[in-house]
Amino acid sequence: MKVAVIGAAGGIGQALALLLKNQLPAGSELALYDIAPVTPGVAADLSHIPTPVSVVGFAGEDPSPALEGADVVLISAGVARKPGMDRADLFNVNAGIVKSLAEKIAVVCPKAVVGIITNPVNTTVAIAADVLKKAGVYDKRRLFGVTTLDVIRSETFIGELKGKNPQDVHIPVIGGHSGVTILPLLSQVEGVEFTQEEVEALTPRIQNAGTEVVEAKAGGGSATLSMGQAACRFGLSLVKALQGEANVVECAYVEGNGEHARFFAQPVLLGKEGVEEVLSYGALSAFEQSALESMLDTLRGDIAIGEEFAAK
Ligand SMILES: NC(=O)c1ccc[n+]([C@@H]2O[C@H](COP(=O)([O-])OP(=O)(O)OC[C@H]3O[C@@H](n4cnc5c(N)ncnc54)[C@H](O)[C@@H]3O)[C@@H](O)[C@H]2O)c1
Repeated sequence: MKVAVIGAAGGIGQALALLLKNQLPAGSELALYDIAPVTPGVAADLSHIPTPVSVVGFAGEDPSPALEGADVVLISAGVARKPGMDRADLFNVNAGIVKSLAEKIAVVCPKAVVGIITNPVNTTVAIAADVLKKAGVYDKRRLFGVTTLDVIRSETFIGELKGKNPQDVHIPVIGGHSGVTILPLLSQVEGVEFTQEEVEALTPRIQNAGTEVVEAKAGGGSATLSMGQAACRFGLSLVKALQGEANVVECAYVEGNGEHARFFAQPVLLGKEGVEEVLSYGALSAFEQSALESMLDTLRGDIAIGEEFAAK
């Protein structure tokens, strides 16, 4: 398996690359790309870690050497949030970056499975989809918005609140990846009951957890280490599924049946071609049903912005 990390010199990219260097299956190749000149040095640094995963790094204007032959491409290239910015503020810079990377992927590795981390994910995934579509290579099974950070935050906060090992907590998080579009299905956490008050406090905490980190870093960026871990979990799941492992399920933002919006995050069974099956997210509580209904205008609006950007 060849995994390319794009934006690899950044906060997320370096954390992700470190985790992948340590956890990819033996014989895998890790390819790093970033416009930052330090990128070959990041690869050299990682290459001294004694694991059976090779690592190469490329800097400059052209991501092609990193993309060539890639099975999985994880994109965290872009700018991160500063205090006072929301994910939509990032749009103008990051949209252009994702568009040009998707144009390259369409030519260099059109069969790769692509995970987009660059925010605003609700919108950047729509841009990538339409750029790939314009190039005639779009396969909706192979494009994902990475929403795993919402899942791991939910696991952590629930574990803290209920005195459980967070690794034993499993929860679907559906919808999108900003603010009210993030909907953790607390009613579906096995073996845990929440009071209405807890649901009303925990849901917005999960939705706004990114802001906790942005504010605590006080101008120094947004979530990078937890996001690196989340993207590593998702990337390893993709690799396992591509290699034929059965029953690999992760929540991710994908183009499904369009019931609620063209793109929607929900549990996905991963397989050798990417999405094997978009799974049902089960029954919702009254609170969750109402939250779902009230997010849809925002989510559809975010998607439309991406579609309009890609069409320009
Ligand atoms: N999906 C999520 O849950 C999630 C969570 C946190 C952050 N993010 C997003 O991830 C992105 C990266 O965050 P970060 O903290 O790592 O930022 P960062 O600024 O530390 O790193 C971004 C990197 O992208 C590189 N870059 C910029 N343009 C590029 C291009 N055209 N090609 C290749 N590389 C390019 C930069 O040189 C930099 O090294 C941001 O958009 C951020 O909002 C997503």
